[in-house]
Amino acid sequence: MTEHEHGAEDRERLRIYVTGTCDGLPEVLQALQAHDELELVGSAESIQEAASALAGGHLEAILHATRGPAYPAEELATVREYSRAPLILLASGDCSGLLEEALEDGVADLVPLPQLTENIVFAIRKACHQGRRSQAVDGRRGRVITVFSPKGGVGKTVVSTNLAATLCKSLGKATLLLDLDLQFGDAAIMLGLQPDKTIYDLVVAPGELDSEKLAGYTLQHPSGLDVLPAPLQPEDAELVTEGKLARLLEVARGSYDAIIVDTSPFFHGPMLATLDRTDDLLLLCGLDVPTIKNVRLSLQTLDLLSFPSERVGVVLNRSNTNVGIQRGEVERALETKIRADLPSDRAVPLGVNRGKPVSLNDPGADFSKAIAELARGLMAETSKSKKPAGKKGLLSRMRS
Ligand SMILES: Nc1ncnc2c1ncn2[C@@H]1O[C@H](COP(=O)(O)OP(=O)(O)OP(=O)(O)O)[C@@H](O)[C@H]1O
Ligand SMILES: [Mg+2]
Repeated sequence: MTEHEHGAEDRERLRIYVTGTCDGLPEVLQALQAHDELELVGSAESIQEAASALAGGHLEAILHATRGPAYPAEELATVREYSRAPLILLASGDCSGLLEEALEDGVADLVPLPQLTENIVFAIRKACHQGRRSQAVDGRRGRVITVFSPKGGVGKTVVSTNLAATLCKSLGKATLLLDLDLQFGDAAIMLGLQPDKTIYDLVVAPGELDSEKLAGYTLQHPSGLDVLPAPLQPEDAELVTEGKLARLLEVARGSYDAIIVDTSPFFHGPMLATLDRTDDLLLLCGLDVPTIKNVRLSLQTLDLLSFPSERVGVVLNRSNTNVGIQRGEVERALETKIRADLPSDRAVPLGVNRGKPVSLNDPGADFSKAIAELARGLMAETSKSKKPAGKKGLLSRMRS
């Protein structure tokens, strides 16, 4: 292996997608597929066919192929409906008249074909770099950390409340805990809070959602943590639509360093809209066969949805319980490494019943120490730039 190849392995590969068609495209696709700096997530001539991958694929750049001399304004507008990733135009035939219109239209680069692969990769690298920079100057960009498990009672709410409290109190991060267990959420109760306003009040309030409005609907925990509780009535859950949630997460990203999302054990619409904007998905597993089976199914579903596997971290809760299943067996069954172990700890239910998260009340407890390590690990990754996905992604893919 050459030094160049070693370097590329250490870096995260750039996730790209190719739409449209032009002469010489099959050869280009083959070369991009084989390139070690790139991850070609997919390609489709029809943009409609690519829609869910464009929106949900966490792409860093999109290449659209076209035959000159006409500028594909409509096609590019459709691509932009699904993703805000930088666009590169690959053009065969007469493309002398395309450049001006492409630049005016905000296309990152125009690459005439045939072209050396390295020149195309250079254009991709440049576009991705510019995309990341413009994201950085947009201001704060909080990390969305979603805590999910396909089974109830595995510890989602315990983990999300303690993680959020630790990020806020111990690591000094501006943190929002969002309770997306919309029907039976109990994050506020676990924190000893009595909600007077919830996410329901926020989404039905008139007017555009912005950071000030969001601040008016969050509850303040004494630790400094902000909480947006689940609706008080289960029937109000359905008013929290995917569109509202998408906007809420975009706004929250501008106001907080970290947004922790507690969930219910279902891949429903709001959950999919959240996944589209999730930087880290903590997939909670326990040491019992039904949970392991369902976590395995969840991993398969996430794969089908093109959710980037490097964003998924399996967390084993109550990992030290002696119930005849070893940690290694779980890893083999899931075909993935466990990212973090959280011990079973009597201090946890004591904290739950008192409405005082163990991480705050008893930072020396084994569970609190494990959560603190997980929190530090998550924040250490914040420096890595990861592009969120756009609007309609995973949701439309689940329905199609
Ligand atoms: N590491 C742990 N040690 C001891 N008890 C734990 C631990 N994790 C969770 N528990 C207990 O398990 C109970 C269920 O946890 P929790 O409510 O967080 O699960 P959940 O996945 O959010 O469930 P649901 O799907 O019903 O919302 C808690 O009341 C807590 O007492
Ligand atoms: Mg819960």
